[in-house]
Amino acid sequence: MAISHAGSRGFTGIPASDSASISLRGLYQQIWSNVPAERLALAFLDRHQPEYLTIATNNHCNLACPHCYLQTDDRDPPLSFREWEQFFGSFFLTELSPRKICFAGREPLLDAMAVDVGFLLRSAAPESQIGLVTNGTLLNRWYLELENLDIDFLDVSLDGSTKIHDRIRGRGTFSKILRNISNLPDTLRSRLSILCSINSMNFDDVKEFLQELEVCGIRKVVFGFFQKTLSTPQDLSISKWQAGRFFDLLLECLQEKDDRWQILLDVDFLVPAVLAAAASRGWLQPEVIQVDETGDAFVDLNDRSLPSLFIRCAFVSSNLWHAIRISADGLLMGSDDSLEPTRYDRDAFASIRKLGDSSVTSNAARARCGTRNRDALISSIEASRECLL
Ligand SMILES: C[S@@+](CC[C@H](N)C(=O)[O-])C[C@H]1O[C@@H](n2cnc3c(N)ncnc32)[C@H](O)[C@@H]1O
Ligand code: SF4
Repeated sequence: MAISHAGSRGFTGIPASDSASISLRGLYQQIWSNVPAERLALAFLDRHQPEYLTIATNNHCNLACPHCYLQTDDRDPPLSFREWEQFFGSFFLTELSPRKICFAGREPLLDAMAVDVGFLLRSAAPESQIGLVTNGTLLNRWYLELENLDIDFLDVSLDGSTKIHDRIRGRGTFSKILRNISNLPDTLRSRLSILCSINSMNFDDVKEFLQELEVCGIRKVVFGFFQKTLSTPQDLSISKWQAGRFFDLLLECLQEKDDRWQILLDVDFLVPAVLAAAASRGWLQPEVIQVDETGDAFVDLNDRSLPSLFIRCAFVSSNLWHAIRISADGLLMGSDDSLEPTRYDRDAFASIRKLGDSSVTSNAARARCGTRNRDALISSIEASRECLL
């Protein structure tokens, strides 16, 4: 689930009580059994409704990070404000009723559309939490709007300590982003998380990284892991050994930190080396897995006298039962399918531009129960079993 539906997502780690979420826990416990993957997938899919909606409002970025899965040539022109307005005025939102909506691409603060659509959603989906993932370089232009929008979570990407981050994201970007963060109004600052995507360039940099963050008073970090795609260099992938080394360095470093720190590790069937490294440390045993109010599964490692440390684990694909993505040109797809922009035309289940309101909603409903969802679930159960057993 990691990057594909993006970021901290306002993670709270609250154990769930609703039956849909409990059945995810049941599914995860069954991953260790020999119940056939297809049977598990079908039993599970019956009961779910997507909790997350992530939205890209443009196809542009002012940076060129080598690991980025969104680096594609321009697709069709982005939806206009009028098109977003028509779509969110339809009964799609009422039917879906996502708990969390996140603007996650390409760089949402490059123009005004994410903020404008954010205001639209505040009235169209008053129950939903709204958040944003940004590279942080342009944050200073939007303080006022983001405050007025009363954004629920704000995720800023940093890929390591100054030297490493600048090597990945461009010279001078680290200090610019930190300046923008230190000038954040208090209300936004309290909702801030740092996102760091671990790859072969930064897996052994975590001590220096956390040290630099601490100096700036930042103590909330979500670590995701590089997922290779058709457009990213293969050599950024990390091995199981490198993932283990990252975990060891992180734990070592956390021994010295106080309990104001909050760290979330996203481990995911899409990056088997990381899942295997976490499983081999005994962190993912079925009896310790909890499910939060949004249906995300996590493990709380706090009993090891460390500052707040959680692992959010996704043993199965979140397509489409859990998270839906809308691309800038209006394609609706399962979150994991958003990792391959060159395949959007094949993988999307509907286009806002091509379909009227009713066909979009009925397509969404069909797609949820459709073969794509089932197939993604079956193959991800099989992939996770290979790492865990
Ligand atoms: C795609 S970016 C979009 C938002 C914004 N431009 C930013 O960089 O935060 C969202 C997050 O995905 C991460 N990301 C991009 N490509 C990735 C990949 N192939 N594997 C893992 N994380 C990736 C980025 O590092 C960033 O934290
Ligand atoms: S800033 Fe974000 S969207 Fe832009 S290239 Fe980097 S990861 Fe991709």
